[in-house]
Amino acid sequence: MAASIVKRVSRVKKFNISHISARNKLLTGFRHFSTSKQWNKALVLGVYENESTDSIDFTGTARKFDEKADGKISQLLLTVKKPLKCGKTRTLHAVDPEFSSVLVTCIGKRGEGYDELETVDKGRESIRAAVAKAVLQLRELGENEIEVDSCGDTEASAEGCHLALFSYDDLKAEKSRKPTVRISCATRYSQDKNSMEIEWRKGAILAEGQNLSRRLMEMPANLLTPTKFAEIIKEQLADKCEVLVRDKDWAESMKMGSFLSVARGSVEPPVFLEIEYKGRQSDSPLALVGKGVTFDTGGISIKPSQGMDAMRGDMGGAACVAGSLLSVSKLQLPVHVKAFIPLCENMPSGSATKPGDVVTAMNGKTIQVDNTDAEGRLILADALCYSEQFNPSLILDMATLTGAIDVALGAGAAGVFTNSENMWNKLQKASVRSGDRVWRMPLFNHYTKKITECQLADLNNIGGSRSGGACTAAAFLKEFVNNKNWLHLDIAGVMSNSGDVAYLGKGMSGRPTRTVIEFINLMSKETKN
Ligand code: BES
Ligand code: ZN
Ligand code: ZN
Repeated sequence: MAASIVKRVSRVKKFNISHISARNKLLTGFRHFSTSKQWNKALVLGVYENESTDSIDFTGTARKFDEKADGKISQLLLTVKKPLKCGKTRTLHAVDPEFSSVLVTCIGKRGEGYDELETVDKGRESIRAAVAKAVLQLRELGENEIEVDSCGDTEASAEGCHLALFSYDDLKAEKSRKPTVRISCATRYSQDKNSMEIEWRKGAILAEGQNLSRRLMEMPANLLTPTKFAEIIKEQLADKCEVLVRDKDWAESMKMGSFLSVARGSVEPPVFLEIEYKGRQSDSPLALVGKGVTFDTGGISIKPSQGMDAMRGDMGGAACVAGSLLSVSKLQLPVHVKAFIPLCENMPSGSATKPGDVVTAMNGKTIQVDNTDAEGRLILADALCYSEQFNPSLILDMATLTGAIDVALGAGAAGVFTNSENMWNKLQKASVRSGDRVWRMPLFNHYTKKITECQLADLNNIGGSRSGGACTAAAFLKEFVNNKNWLHLDIAGVMSNSGDVAYLGKGMSGRPTRTVIEFINLMSKETKN
């Protein structure tokens, strides 16, 4: 205790010397605060980018706080002549008896919104990034409790905080600290307390869904087998959804020869998960389908060993389906969703499928497996066929399907292949809000021809050449779908984050979970689902 008081005092002294030695009026205040025992919290305040060197353009909350603090925040910020730029921060100490640190973060230009070229709401995206940086810096300073400015968009602010503070350290002895974060203005400066707290909770739940996807994707494949995946999903969702765990015999009885051909090389038994969330009575659910390859070695067409560890994330589609369902059910959206998740390992062994083998999918189509590394489309083929049996109003599948989509779009956006202009518009609208972008790709017959030219069977599982690899994979899936509202999201390029998204740490990204939740939210407003 004594040590912590000494630390506080020395921090104040340092601040006095470097910034405000000439400001006697303020110093009186600091002397008083230095003996206060209430310093256990930090505050994040937003400012807009502003060229002026003699005024600060505060957010509503920040302005009220500055007024309450007799203009100390603006005075201190104006002691240096360089205006804050978007994404930059200043940390002030000892400006309020309640907060040990007040971190001012710049959220970009006032009034920024939809940017057509970027196809994103820039205002919301800047808030996420600015707030994320702020909470991480405050954690670095040892702060345990952080109050955060809504910055004019409470939901985006909550998303930024909760996504930034995620880390996968379940397997480390030393865990990273998780300060508690809460909305600031809701409790003191705003008339609109309740609605702000609701928005904050919504943002936190959106982030929680994405964080579940990230955790599942990051988990090593020796721990996250198909069986374990099913167990975790039951734990996470069973109180809100019905979770059916189907085994190999069931898949055999359903004639899922394509799915089973991938699983057969592994000693880990395959699992087919069927999950239902009934937030409304309806006969035409939204169907979600996710690729759940818990590890992709490539099988007999084995992958090069460098970077193969990333293939633990090859169940990213399944993870994003699970993360979306977690949020949709926690938000109690009035919508009926059914999810289908084929889970297996793709391993080489004496029992593995060999190049040139022919397998039969649930709809009777035969497939020549020319490359066992193109396994995602094989397991999805049966899952898509099965999902059609439930009269879905739409089918949305997600899969870390091809390296080719990474070549095409990188981590900029998930590739979307859809037969519906209307669905495309809705998904894009959702992604503008979430900041987790999508980009439309073609489903031309040109690509279908590549996978229907086949020596031994109806289809081959690779399109001959590598050209247009993401498009031939999508064309292959199209052979297993009749639904007029089908969306296929190839998420291999957005699987992991290496610093592109400022508010996600390095590692598996859980993208595009929040876009899908927003999309389901939009669809829940339509009567049919
Ligand atoms: N899981 C991979 C795709 C992938 C690549 C995901 C990079 C995440 C990051 C998929 O199963 C695969 O191996 N696809 C092959 C297909 C090819 C053999 C036609 C590919 O993209 O190289
Ligand atoms: Zn593969
Ligand atoms: Zn794969």
